[in-house]
Amino acid sequence: KPIYILNGPNLNLLGKREPAIYGSETLADVEARCATLAESLGFTVACFQSNHEGVLIDTIHEAREKAAAIIINPGAFTHTSVAILDALYAYEGPVFECHISNVHKREPFRHHSFISARADGVMAGFGIEGYELCLRRACSLLSK
Ligand code: DQA
Repeated sequence: KPIYILNGPNLNLLGKREPAIYGSETLADVEARCATLAESLGFTVACFQSNHEGVLIDTIHEAREKAAAIIINPGAFTHTSVAILDALYAYEGPVFECHISNVHKREPFRHHSFISARADGVMAGFGIEGYELCLRRACSLLSK
């Protein structure tokens, strides 16, 4: 089964959007890095991005059957979405929450995550390398 890499709203603009905060690499770059790393560790990834909360929830439901683990950057839904949290509670495999920026260094409204209550691990402030670090952890857990 693949490891799902889910990206939420505005992350399709990665590389163009606020590069001082999020860097200049694109979402396609992130996905390519993850695919390469997964392959080197004997795993595969399936990557999804949506700007729509319901589509992200539907994808998490699909993951119940299809994904070995979920790595999710819920974007701003991190700070608002009980519905995404509940969808993740309905998923039984490992879940990692990934933020490119260090949300704790930013505005107070970014300090609280609804998602962290379900996450097995959280990355914030490691840039796009955070996705690779989550992936390494997911692969090592799944190898046990
Ligand atoms: C983000 C942080 C969120 O606060 C923000 O709304 C995003 C991206 C990050 O990757 O640093 O869209 O999740």
